Amino acid sequence: MAVSKKIHAEVQQLRQLIEHHNRLYYTFAAPEIPDDDYDALLARLQSLESDYDLVTPDSPTQRVGSAPQSQFSQVTHENPMLSLAKVNSEDELRSFEQRLHKSLESDANLEYSCEPKIDGVAVSLLYEDGVLTRGATRGDGVTGEDITHNVRTISSIPLRLQCDEPPARFEVRGEIFLGKQGFARINARASNDGGKVFVNPRNTAAGAIRQLDSRNTAKMPLQMYCYSVGIADGINLPDSLSQVFAMLKGFGLPINDDLLVAKGIDECITYCEQLLGKRNDLEYEIDGAVIKVNRFRTQEALGNTARSPRWAIAYKFPAEEKTTTVLNVEFQVGRTGTITPVARLEPVFVGGVTVSNTTLHNMDEIERLGLHIGDTVIVRRAGDVIPKIVKVLDSESVKKGSGKRKAVVLPDGCPACGSAIEKDGEVLVRCSAGIICPAQRKESIKHFASRTALDIEGLGNKLIEQLVDLELISNVSDIFALDKQTLAGMERMGDKSADNLLAAISKAKKTTLPRFLFALGIREVGEATAQALANHFGDLPAIIAADAEALEEVADIGPIVAQHIATFFRNKDNLGLIAQLQKQGIEWPVIEVSTMAKLLDGETWVLTGTLEQLTRNEAKARLVALGAKVAGSVSAKTDCVVAGPGAGSKLTKAEELQIKVIDEDTFLRQLEKLEQQ
Ligand code: IVH
Repeated sequence: MAVSKKIHAEVQQLRQLIEHHNRLYYTFAAPEIPDDDYDALLARLQSLESDYDLVTPDSPTQRVGSAPQSQFSQVTHENPMLSLAKVNSEDELRSFEQRLHKSLESDANLEYSCEPKIDGVAVSLLYEDGVLTRGATRGDGVTGEDITHNVRTISSIPLRLQCDEPPARFEVRGEIFLGKQGFARINARASNDGGKVFVNPRNTAAGAIRQLDSRNTAKMPLQMYCYSVGIADGINLPDSLSQVFAMLKGFGLPINDDLLVAKGIDECITYCEQLLGKRNDLEYEIDGAVIKVNRFRTQEALGNTARSPRWAIAYKFPAEEKTTTVLNVEFQVGRTGTITPVARLEPVFVGGVTVSNTTLHNMDEIERLGLHIGDTVIVRRAGDVIPKIVKVLDSESVKKGSGKRKAVVLPDGCPACGSAIEKDGEVLVRCSAGIICPAQRKESIKHFASRTALDIEGLGNKLIEQLVDLELISNVSDIFALDKQTLAGMERMGDKSADNLLAAISKAKKTTLPRFLFALGIREVGEATAQALANHFGDLPAIIAADAEALEEVADIGPIVAQHIATFFRNKDNLGLIAQLQKQGIEWPVIEVSTMAKLLDGETWVLTGTLEQLTRNEAKARLVALGAKVAGSVSAKTDCVVAGPGAGSKLTKAEELQIKVIDEDTFLRQLEKLEQQ
């Protein structure tokens, strides 16, 4: 069928428009049109292409994936894809520079391109006459696999370079990865669908890019950042890598924003330190920094070894995943009686800390992991999150080998008091004994004395355990009856520390209502909820008198939490304990409900980077008290971002969206001012 010029023009226009919106959406995270409008453009293009037989490999319609392939064909890299030499310390970075100076026979200050070392999968993209014709994995560096069908589904990879006179052959290399949010999204989807959850973004990205059926790849929000050029036929490259990055960006290729041109190794070291500092805030996982000589002439003068270039080095950060052995699984009884299995591990340094215990949450988790005592496991600690076992390794070989593998069995009775264990909901189990159980008693006292509750300095966990074991205290009010002689007689205590502790106990009596409410350890009442309760009701009698319905009127309190609160205050023992504490002199100022106007009502705030003068929870509680919502990510709806040192992508995004950003000092000043109004 002869296709009219008009149809051709419309198809062309639609392709450009869709790619333009793809870039806005995927590269800049700043869409300009609603999803429905985008879908309508794509649907129109799809129907024109199929009606008039106009499908081409660079059409955005090809991103949705195509029928499965039976196998991968091999690709030989014209220029091998090298690897990087690694260092682990600043000293080694300095030695790297010394080697460069020696080799160049010059001590002249060198310029470097400093880049995050993204923990993903290295790939090569070939553009012929500007059109993406081949995508390949690195493989062994010489031979990789053809994954063209899969890279076409990645929305931020242009199917055609944006330039008027495209080079005849142009190969870019870079890292394909899954961002942290994308990974969380697909894992939420997987667990919703009852599917297997993915262990980490890297392995998931590696699996996604090696799918024979590209429709599976298309479902994964994969991303890519380019970091080098392999072939450049028909185009003159600029003199330096940083200029190449600008050129690639101009072609519409995705380039990381967290790059820096540094002069001399000291500036590179500062870059590495800053990058490590903001590692948790980055939207993608990194395992280090890459430092490369920026000028191509200098790179050429330095040359390559068989495996890696002499002009670049990877500075590795502490690994976020390590393997270790499960020595035992014990059961811990929490403050509210919940019994939790905890794995005792062969200590392992992971994510910057030594980990020797990790919670297994519940028996279902143990079953899901297929975990046995004696297993070799992968422990992961990424960011500030608590370390967790993500995978059991080699369980088969352990089974066959030492025969030491032992199943984890839920005990018959509470491990602390022997009372019956009862089920609580689908997966939880708890000790039925309540406050008679010494473990529950210890945990509730530890919670009461902790820093974010009554903050009794010097009353640590070990001392509380001793005091309960010796039956010197059995509930929180007993703390206030302790005398110097008793305290001075405890392990590692003397006259001086007993005096200090008594002073701290006395000081803790003057508290605030939110702290007191939090310290009571009501189920599901954290710092923010305690603050919200205090602000809403002003004083304790009103909270005690409130029924579930009245409690639900408090911002962020739903029916379940309201029920827990109401139940707590209907319990005579709890009321008796509160009366006892007040008799012992615990007091707080009443909050004037009417004056605590919700000055930030309806606003959304985001906290990012490190806060140095108050904890995140405290900051959050105070914002919530003023009526604000505290969100985890920045969007057009954000009203203000509080950015501490090390703030990363959230800060960048706020700046892009021109959202108000303040530092911690300004934040504190504003809070105080608002709280006084
Ligand atoms: S440059 C010759 N730059 O790290 C230069 N690699 O151990 C070779 N990687 O296979 C690579 N981020 O998968 C380079 N900004 C970056 C990188 C990076 C991650 C990976 C890449 C490579 C491995 C080298």
